Amino acid sequence: MVAILEAKNIVKVYPNGVVANKGVSISVEENTIHALVGENGSGKTTLMKVIFGIEKPQDGEVFFQGRKVQVKNPHDAIALGIGMVHQHFMLAPDLTVAENLVLGQEPLKNKFVLDTKKAQEITQEISEKYKLPVPPNKKIKDLPLGIKQRVEILKVLLRNAKLLILDEPTSVLTPQETEVLFQTLRELKKYGKTIIFISHKLKEIKEISDKVTVMRDGRIIDTRDANELSEHDISFLMVGRDISYERVSASEAIGEPLLKVNNISFTNEENSPVLKNISFEIKAGEIVGLAGIEGNGQNELVEILTGLRKADKGELFLKQENINNLSPRKLREKKICYIPADRMKNGVAEKTTLEENFIVDRYCQPPFSRGFRLNWKYIEKYSKELIRKFQILAHSSKATVDSLSGGNIQKVVVARELSADPKIIVADQPTRGIDVGSEELVHNLLIDARDKGSAVFLISANLDEIIKLSSKIMVIYQGEIVARFDKIDGIRDVDLGHYMLGLKRGEV
Ligand SMILES: Nc1ncnc2c1ncn2[C@@H]1O[C@H](COP(=O)(O)OP(=O)(O)OP(=O)(O)O)[C@@H](O)[C@H]1O
Ligand SMILES: [Mg+2]
Repeated sequence: MVAILEAKNIVKVYPNGVVANKGVSISVEENTIHALVGENGSGKTTLMKVIFGIEKPQDGEVFFQGRKVQVKNPHDAIALGIGMVHQHFMLAPDLTVAENLVLGQEPLKNKFVLDTKKAQEITQEISEKYKLPVPPNKKIKDLPLGIKQRVEILKVLLRNAKLLILDEPTSVLTPQETEVLFQTLRELKKYGKTIIFISHKLKEIKEISDKVTVMRDGRIIDTRDANELSEHDISFLMVGRDISYERVSASEAIGEPLLKVNNISFTNEENSPVLKNISFEIKAGEIVGLAGIEGNGQNELVEILTGLRKADKGELFLKQENINNLSPRKLREKKICYIPADRMKNGVAEKTTLEENFIVDRYCQPPFSRGFRLNWKYIEKYSKELIRKFQILAHSSKATVDSLSGGNIQKVVVARELSADPKIIVADQPTRGIDVGSEELVHNLLIDARDKGSAVFLISANLDEIIKLSSKIMVIYQGEIVARFDKIDGIRDVDLGHYMLGLKRGEV
């Protein structure tokens, strides 16, 4: 087999002294799907950024199609036929799909003005060729994540990429969207393309890839044929220990209802009913899981629970207290914590430090401040403790969030929220982008919170996660709770799937 890409002995040291790649060599065969896996912060994204010309390595060589190449910037990479879809998307939200696609190589009218019609034609053409439908005239910000990603992939294909680097493409996708993406990847393989695929999800890695390369702590541990490896082997290679996927038993001590949701309904701007008479309660010591295909009302429900949106009808109670119209800040003061699904939009401020991110919701109180003065000494000590407890890979508590790897940013959000002594935790995709080892850590922390008497509402596209953690499960379909399970033992993901797809309805 011919290698399309070979990187030899890549060394990358960031300006802050972090050695993210410690002499990495990898060979990727032409026309294969090659998975790159490893713990959060092990150096996957860095290696790909070096290959794509975003980061300059201190040492090492890159060969593309047998020829030694100097990739100084993404421009060079694109000219060679390398394309990259990033972990955090890079589309312009206020531009349309067509405008984003042609960005940087715009067809012009009268030399200066964008030829919108031509841009639309280009979009149609490429989207039909690769069977990836997109709405050319819609603005990016109005599209669901799965479609945004499709635009990113089309953008890369439009620039004639032979090698596509996809950095955690599935971490933002639902299982159904992932299936669609995998069909696309198989299709692309038929066109002779090569794909490097980064993921933390073992099942997917097994399903889609031909080869698997495992990284740990800036080095490559091994490259193997995917069919030689079991999911267990992959996770063992990644973290160097066994991970438990056993269902956890329910808490012994179930207390009084903490969160009560009564008959919540919501109709959106387009006048379609998004939530229909949603009622449930979560007791102290319980984790209630919400399963459903994205876009069935989960987002709106979470936004209502966290004060970001108002319901048209219905009531919310924290114990006996009506908390209907409280602001997000007031809800926070009442110890209702929130791990948002989109960490970059709602979770962190990228240019600020870990310390600042940890205290955003608590700096007004002692011991974080005295009078008007912040107690930075204490804040530093506190932050270091969180970094240790949540195993966040950061070189200092004063590091800015944007110097962390994707999974470690997620851990910053989780650490802040779970350390706020929460009564109610709304956990929306809490382990998105987190490696299997850290996933276990976050699961254990959610269970600890539960055992200390918190009520946890878990929304997750990962059914294994819902089944593993929940004491009760609800399924939402088209804005309605269509099934409730009060006993979880023996439930399988396919059982939930039938309700999620609307093929079945339970006794509600
Ligand atoms: N711009 C940066 N400045 C300084 N350090 C960085 C920067 N980007 C990444 N790092 C550090 O380099 C190391 C490797 O990060 P990288 O993003 O490559 O990890 P990763 O394997 O992609 O992890 P994840 O699975 O969480 O996405 C980490 O220690 C990270 O904190
Ligand atoms: Mg990464």
